[in-house]
Amino acid sequence: MEKTEKIWLDGRLVDWRDARVHVLTHALNYGTGVFEGIRVYQTPRGPAVFRLKDHVRRLMDGCRVMGIDPVFGGERYSAADVEEAVKETVRANSKVDYVKPCVFLNGEEVGLNPVGVPASMSITCIFMGPYLSPSEDGQKLITSSWHRPDNLCGPAGAKINGAYVTSCLAKREAVRQGANEAVMLNSVGHVAECTGENIFIYKNGKVLTPQSSECILEGINRASVIKIARDLGYEVEETEVTRTQLISADEVWMTGTAVEVAAVTSIDGRAIGDGRIGPVSREIHAKFHDAACGRAPEYGSWLDYV
Ligand SMILES: Cc1ncc(COP(=O)(O)O)c(C=O)c1O
Repeated sequence: MEKTEKIWLDGRLVDWRDARVHVLTHALNYGTGVFEGIRVYQTPRGPAVFRLKDHVRRLMDGCRVMGIDPVFGGERYSAADVEEAVKETVRANSKVDYVKPCVFLNGEEVGLNPVGVPASMSITCIFMGPYLSPSEDGQKLITSSWHRPDNLCGPAGAKINGAYVTSCLAKREAVRQGANEAVMLNSVGHVAECTGENIFIYKNGKVLTPQSSECILEGINRASVIKIARDLGYEVEETEVTRTQLISADEVWMTGTAVEVAAVTSIDGRAIGDGRIGPVSREIHAKFHDAACGRAPEYGSWLDYV
């Protein structure tokens, strides 16, 4: 990751090193925050934020779920205000491909009662580059011993800071075992998703992905890939996916803002299909990249130029 120059904090652009919080910040101690990850792509018409409105809507929904009022630095922010703040922060920095807005309880409080604790919003831009090393061999997964947190343990469909502890544990487990990523099962043993990615399989001529009730985050790239796959003529089903279906699939790939579309060629040391990146994920990935980089006019509404 490369740092940038300016961070947006409660309505002001401050130098990177000045964007600080107190050690007793509620969110630091209890995870009481909501965040987003958004990509910025270079297009023939200049830099564009990919699906900004959808990301901001999910952030605002997360605030509602957490009971956080979007009042930062004494001002109430609408979704449109947050979108504008994201674009302003991208414009204020020279080399950006990823933006991370974060709304968090910043009050210096001990105790689990969040009522009345003030909130802050930061918007940080970085240059991330590829999240997983690009490889012609595809990505290697393990099945994590950690389960995807259940809807009964918290709002699985929102990007809540504290919920990411499980993803960090699963990712560490994968890296320790020489893999790039981990797939997590839900509490009934169905395939849910990866640590920061949704998962798709291609089997018997159909694209399958776990449905939203399987305790997944409803990824924005998941939605983009479902639309692209259908437009390319594939049948796509959002359903329950079993571990048997996963390891016997012809192709597997992950989607996410950070990974974009990443083909998986091995899970727990077993080859997926013939162990090479397959034609379906290649075709969808190519179309996705055209859409994100402004080369597919039919998906032009997904881009917000800064
Ligand atoms: C747990 C989890 N699942 C899936 C995704 C993919 O979501 P998106 O495509 O919106 O980045 C993410 C990334 O934000 C995530 O953190």
